[in-house]
Amino acid sequence: MRRRVLLVFGGDSSEHEVSCLTAGSVLRALDRDRFDVTCVGIAKGGRWVAVDEAVVRSYRIVDDTLPTVEGSLSDAVLIRTVSGADVARVDGDTLVDRTPVDVAFALLHGPFGEDGTIQGLFEMMGVRYVGAGVLSSAVCQDKGAMKQQFAVHDLPTGPYVIVTDAQWTADPDACLSRIGTLAAPWFVKPARGGSSMGITRVTSTQDLPAAIAEARDFDPNVIVEQGIMGAREIECAVLGSLDGPPVASLPGEIDVHTESRFYDFATKYLPDQPVTLDIPADLPDAVIECVRELAVRAFVALGVEGLARVDTFVFPDGTVILNELNTMPGFTSTSMYPKLWEAAGVAYTELVTRLLDLALARPLGLR
Ligand SMILES: Nc1ncnc2c1ncn2[C@@H]1O[C@H](COP(=O)(O)OP(=O)(O)O)[C@@H](O)[C@H]1O
Ligand SMILES: [Mg+2]
Repeated sequence: MRRRVLLVFGGDSSEHEVSCLTAGSVLRALDRDRFDVTCVGIAKGGRWVAVDEAVVRSYRIVDDTLPTVEGSLSDAVLIRTVSGADVARVDGDTLVDRTPVDVAFALLHGPFGEDGTIQGLFEMMGVRYVGAGVLSSAVCQDKGAMKQQFAVHDLPTGPYVIVTDAQWTADPDACLSRIGTLAAPWFVKPARGGSSMGITRVTSTQDLPAAIAEARDFDPNVIVEQGIMGAREIECAVLGSLDGPPVASLPGEIDVHTESRFYDFATKYLPDQPVTLDIPADLPDAVIECVRELAVRAFVALGVEGLARVDTFVFPDGTVILNELNTMPGFTSTSMYPKLWEAAGVAYTELVTRLLDLALARPLGLR
């Protein structure tokens, strides 16, 4: 039976353009024998607009320019029906192209996309959707809440201090002295960031307040982590399964060729950066198994569904600790998550189909 997919992309965030690239990539790969599609872009500023499929299909980097959702297009709306939701385009006073949605795939990263908010909207609208649910998305998006959950589930991670808005406003010196219990360098991060935005690597105490101010420009809540020294950045792709526990890919490595080894925004997105993605990572078999086992354990413990990229640090002695889980990881056809599955024999089109099938098989309501 053919199913209609609602692709949502863009978003009112710094990852708008990356999300559009992903939408182009997913749409070009979508199995058209199985799926019809309706494309809804979230323009900068937050409007939901109907985007022509051919336009989304053409989203690519052209002359160093990234695609964006045109804010001048017609509004798109979701309408709650008895059994689910319809999507439609607004044309003056009328709705056109009104169609039932079978499954939604929000290709959005970071706040208001990967953080449980749009997942909550889909829940309210009775729409099945790809990926983690409301609570799991929210926990994995907030680095403080995520680390607290790691502790509850006995999952290894590095030392950290949470600096909430209320704590920083009431007593910055008390916050700084708590941070002082961690060894330098420190990584000061917005609690709910992404793409390394607002993160500063700090080596001296006097630079902490400026770094905290920078992180607070992105999120009033901040986390400060002890820098993990001498470890390799190893990432593992976890995929849900229709008839058993989730499965982990072989790990890949982010090898940043700078002294700090900080995988910052420029290194992630700009061309010609000093970084290599090694797929699969060159690690001893025992360490590979350790990473895969920890990745699946974290995925299950944090209640993730569908997919997550689990990012770890691996020390020279083979010890593995968690950095973070991304419930909507980079997902263009050349991103780490799809590349790891491609190396495991799951091509991009098949990966998209599996994610949609997992979402379609999921019951509505509390689960
Ligand atoms: N505690 C840490 N020790 C060493 N490097 C870190 C630490 N935290 C983050 N980094 C570096 O900063 C990058 C971005 O941090 P991360 O927490 O993954 O944020 P984001 O959600 O923006 O990807 C990591 O990929 C890593 O290179
Ligand atoms: Mg990261």
